[in-house]
Amino acid sequence: MTIEILTVLPELLTSPFEHSIMKRAQEKGLLTIKLHTLRKWAINKHGQVDDYQYGGGAGMVMMCEPLANAIDELQATEKFDEIIFLTPDGKTFDQKQANTLSLKNRILLICGHYKGIDQRIRDLYVTREISIGDYVLSGGELAAAVLVDAIGRIIPGVLNDETSALTDSFQDNLLAPPVYSRPASFRDLEVPPILLTGDPKKVEEWRQEQALARTQKRRPDLLAGE
Ligand code: ADE
Repeated sequence: MTIEILTVLPELLTSPFEHSIMKRAQEKGLLTIKLHTLRKWAINKHGQVDDYQYGGGAGMVMMCEPLANAIDELQATEKFDEIIFLTPDGKTFDQKQANTLSLKNRILLICGHYKGIDQRIRDLYVTREISIGDYVLSGGELAAAVLVDAIGRIIPGVLNDETSALTDSFQDNLLAPPVYSRPASFRDLEVPPILLTGDPKKVEEWRQEQALARTQKRRPDLLAGE
């Protein structure tokens, strides 16, 4: 899978993908990440990609031409399966969308800045608009990093132990159960004895119960299918 990112700040997006699972996914050839500097398609030699908004008001808007020219050039030989604009007024990102997107072949993420991008780019090119939560970031780059990580880790073959993604929080609309490691006793707090029995069936039942109880307490909306 290839994820390409169109941004005015590619520097913000180098380190997040150079470590751990994202690094391994790229080394295994399962994920390719390409950063594109929007300034390459600027309208003048000053690197301009934004302008004042019609109708007045504070804040600049990312202009049509640089974005359209960039997208046209990037998909001249092969179309993107999805062109996603990261924006606080998009649909809130969740595991279901991550699962769907992890099955695509080639996607483009557009990072907005200032007041956002000209509406006509959204109308003409964008196939999905995604928010990572009800708060406003200074740009779409950190949101793009969140998407790449959430999508990249579930591309088939990326995780060593395939089942570990299946038991993540949210995969069955359930939060993950509590987990414990050594020592068995820590500051008078004991590991639940059932985990020490070595009985995989009982352990699995306990984990299911705990996952359900935790979800009921913390996120009843997930159980109601909201
Ligand atoms: N850009 C600014 N804020 C954002 C958010 N919450 N989600 C996605 N992109 C954004």
